[in-house]
Amino acid sequence: MIIFNIGELAGIAPSGVRLLKGSEMKDFGVLHNAWIQIKDGVITDFGTGEVPADSELIDAQGGLVMPAFCDSHTHLVYAGSREGEFLDKLAGLTYEQIAARGGGILNSSDVLHDTSEDDLFEQSMVRVREVLSKGTATLEIKSGYGLRPSDELKMLRVIRRIGSAVPAIVKATFLGAHAVGRGYSHSEYVDEVLNMIHDAAELSDFIDVFCDEGFFTVEDTERILSAAAPFGLRAKIHANELAVSGGVQVGVKYGALSVDHLERTTDAEIEALRGSSTMPVMLPGSSFFLGLPYGRARAFVDAGLPLALASDYNPGSSPSGDMRFVLALGCIKMKLTPVEALAAVTLNAAYALGISNETGSVTRGKRADLIMSLPGWSLTRLGYNYTTPFIRQVFICGK
Ligand code: NIG
Ligand code: FE
Repeated sequence: MIIFNIGELAGIAPSGVRLLKGSEMKDFGVLHNAWIQIKDGVITDFGTGEVPADSELIDAQGGLVMPAFCDSHTHLVYAGSREGEFLDKLAGLTYEQIAARGGGILNSSDVLHDTSEDDLFEQSMVRVREVLSKGTATLEIKSGYGLRPSDELKMLRVIRRIGSAVPAIVKATFLGAHAVGRGYSHSEYVDEVLNMIHDAAELSDFIDVFCDEGFFTVEDTERILSAAAPFGLRAKIHANELAVSGGVQVGVKYGALSVDHLERTTDAEIEALRGSSTMPVMLPGSSFFLGLPYGRARAFVDAGLPLALASDYNPGSSPSGDMRFVLALGCIKMKLTPVEALAAVTLNAAYALGISNETGSVTRGKRADLIMSLPGWSLTRLGYNYTTPFIRQVFICGK
């Protein structure tokens, strides 16, 4: 199959490139008047000029073709919604105040407890179908609304079931340490998380800890990451959302694949990340929804660091998994160029899931996870006309 008459083929990377950092991000390749060839779900070739003969030809009508989105941070398996808290938030309560009143994560945990596994799967699949139709072809989903062994495992089984039900790549992260479960003291609950790791590891690819003010400390995080390491679970840490938490430094120390949120950072976090293999991931959807500062994307990239952006899709701080909106916020609020923002929501995000050798860019041999736009679209227009529908077709593994 060949898609031809592509006005702009964006997101091209040479094979072997696993991430783009600093000034490399603006060099994420673009070709004009291009074609791309796909065989057995894989990108086999692309170029400009004469289109090779092929059985199936798809006319892109001069539109944009780009790598599909990779959303490296979501909590989209949850039950019910938190619309009631939305009203509290509009009345002036902060995220922390809502949580302190027993709302927030604990509210979602109560509802999840009373929801059957099948129902949880069905409710979550509504969101999965939505984000796939909006161009996401790789998705990470965290546990963390169970907060007791049986319910955490229930969530992880649902995440695995989603992975079997859709063609997208789905990665599961055990986030037992999301909040202290009801009925536990803080230290009892950290011990319970340590106990859960053995069973959770069978159903998880990664481990996460909400290392932030009012949730889990650097010491708790160290204990949990040390216990998870023998199970081969690499870390993805929630850090620096509510305070400068030390989460970035502890993540780097334990070789985390990513440290995520980063609404509040100093130059010490930039220094800690320099030379590490840890991807900083910013979540502008939560800054938008909670009215938090946006992460210092420009400072990170200008300091030579790589950067990924993700949706954080969850019922409390980012009730949207729209990665095109994330890309647009990257441009509008974080001052990334459209090409840099594209690298952040595709290749670098795939790195944050350890799969940038498989997907995340237009590269020969990678999965054909692609978005073809309606006619008349360019990469720059995605951030500019940021709410106008632009997708004509999403290809996941060439289908
Ligand atoms: O990434 N910060 C921690 N966890 C989520 C919010 C979860 C919730 O409020 O339900 C986040 O923002
Ligand atoms: Fe999160």
